[in-house]
Amino acid sequence: MNIFITGASGFLGWYTATSLARIHKVFAMAHRNSPVIEGVHWIPYDLRDPRGMDRIFEEIKPDVVFHAAAMTSVKECDRNRQEAMKINIKATERIAELCARGDVYIIYASTDLVFDGTRGNYSENDRTNPVSFYARTKRVAEEVVLSFTSNHTIVRFALLFGPPSPHSRSFLGWMGDGFRDGQPVTLFTDQFRTPLYVKDAVDIVEKLIARKDQPPQIKLIHAGGPERLSRVDIGRIFCGVFGYDTSLIKEIQMAEKGEVVNDAADVSLAIEKARKVLGFEPRGVRAGFEDMR
Ligand SMILES: NC(=O)c1ccc[n+]([C@@H]2O[C@H](COP(=O)([O-])OP(=O)(O)OC[C@H]3O[C@@H](n4cnc5c(N)ncnc54)[C@H](OP(=O)(O)O)[C@@H]3O)[C@@H](O)[C@H]2O)c1
Repeated sequence: MNIFITGASGFLGWYTATSLARIHKVFAMAHRNSPVIEGVHWIPYDLRDPRGMDRIFEEIKPDVVFHAAAMTSVKECDRNRQEAMKINIKATERIAELCARGDVYIIYASTDLVFDGTRGNYSENDRTNPVSFYARTKRVAEEVVLSFTSNHTIVRFALLFGPPSPHSRSFLGWMGDGFRDGQPVTLFTDQFRTPLYVKDAVDIVEKLIARKDQPPQIKLIHAGGPERLSRVDIGRIFCGVFGYDTSLIKEIQMAEKGEVVNDAADVSLAIEKARKVLGFEPRGVRAGFEDMR
């Protein structure tokens, strides 16, 4: 199949492109960076100006689009709202429109942050209520995808972790830097996630591609790890596996942070649907860290 991946130079996109290129023809879009991946054709492109996208679609003739490009920094999106809307919403509109025109299957990478985090254990049937501007753009983009084309799956990924990709890294980057330098690492006791190992995130994308023509199509699915953990829990497991001193962890509550925390408390995802319909069995955080060693 011809697979077109946007955001392929980013954390999730790079792992997905690398894995899919073993069996498919992969066309990868990137903006500033184009890391070498064997067999992958790179297309440098700036989504802030989505002109010329139709030509790309004509040339590639994709069977599947995995749309993972986004302005992903919560702070950056808040500071630069126009840009965030251009990249996260407007460009998604253009891509979804072109997918609709060619009846191309689109998998859209959304986020657990579409929920406000007041309850946790969110299923696909739960009401969304994004807190940050970033999350709002992602939620609007979900609506854009489903309103433009019926041939879609929206995957809401939980917090991703894994070894860094050539140009991006997960939250483990700054956490690991702190422990390595012997610096105190401030982590929340009351912010919960269901962290997903990046290789398992790729697995769900591959499973969706494999059943692309098998009805009924999955329109919305949650992809999280098997455990609900606080940031402190994650830090402790990290220290245990990598041999760092847990006394470096400085435990605080979200409310104690000086600046306004533009983030949700508990956006843990329920993954029963993915388990049942896709046989998705992601590994836990400890197993992910051990795989990274
Ligand atoms: N990481 C997580 O924990 C997580 C959790 C839930 C959902 N998600 C979603 O998963 C997707 C991938 O996340 P990630 O963490 O892998 O992101 P990332 O590492 O920040 O990568 C973002 C990607 O988007 C591309 N991009 C940004 N601005 C662009 C522009 N103007 N034109 C073209 N491309 C542009 C970047 O290209 P360049 O680097 O080449 O500029 C990069 O390839 C995102 O949609 C995100 O919302 C991520």
